Amino acid sequence: MPDPIKKSFLLGWFFAILIAAIIKYVYMNKWDKIFESKPKYKPLNDIFFQKLLEKVKKEINPNLKNIIDLGCGTSRSVFQFARMGFDVVGVDFSEVALSALQNDIDDSDFNNIKLINQDLNDITLDLEADIFICVFTYTFINDKEKFLKKIKSSMKEDSVFVLITPVTHENVKYLEIDKPQIAVEYSSTVKLLKSVFSVVEDYHHDYIGAREDYVTFLVKK
Ligand SMILES: C[S@@+](CC[C@H](N)C(=O)[O-])C[C@H]1O[C@@H](n2cnc3c(N)ncnc32)[C@H](O)[C@@H]1O
Repeated sequence: MPDPIKKSFLLGWFFAILIAAIIKYVYMNKWDKIFESKPKYKPLNDIFFQKLLEKVKKEINPNLKNIIDLGCGTSRSVFQFARMGFDVVGVDFSEVALSALQNDIDDSDFNNIKLINQDLNDITLDLEADIFICVFTYTFINDKEKFLKKIKSSMKEDSVFVLITPVTHENVKYLEIDKPQIAVEYSSTVKLLKSVFSVVEDYHHDYIGAREDYVTFLVKK
């Protein structure tokens, strides 16, 4: 091939690949972009979670065996649950997060962790667990009522749903500097939870000054 033709051929390929990469990036799942930068979220506090489990075992279900982490990301929580002896299913829709987490699972000795790629806005799978847990993810779900109803229909009478989320309050004016990024409004959240589930307990509530609160709801079918 003469040199100028070869050059324009290569240039054509270069631009085609560049445009494909740009299109892929633009349409990439927002969370895939976030997980490309390898954030390391911390797991739940062990003592906090153990206390919660003790309460659930004593009051609701003494035989907790499996747990589903809804919106697991690359979180260390799945290992925390596996270490406690649970059969764990992590659900997320970020392929980047799931593949990073799967690599960590493959490198570990755990054989009780399974990952599922599923959009929580449209859960089509039949999920079954003693504990459904959703940590710092609820705010990203568009149709919350549909999501909650799906969780409810997946729960057994002695299953629990643990929802951990930052919350704001409608009558509080948050300063720009304190503006919570991923919180949901508290009273409307409680109202919605109560309209779907029979028991909704505000199990733990951290008030931290002018910023959002961190709430753990313990919910029964
Ligand atoms: C702030 S991260 C929290 C991750 C993890 N729960 C933790 O505490 O480390 C939010 C997670 O929700 C996931 N997520 C957001 N919207 C989702 C959806 N519609 N379906 C499935 N996962 C979703 C994201 O991919 C991300 O992993």
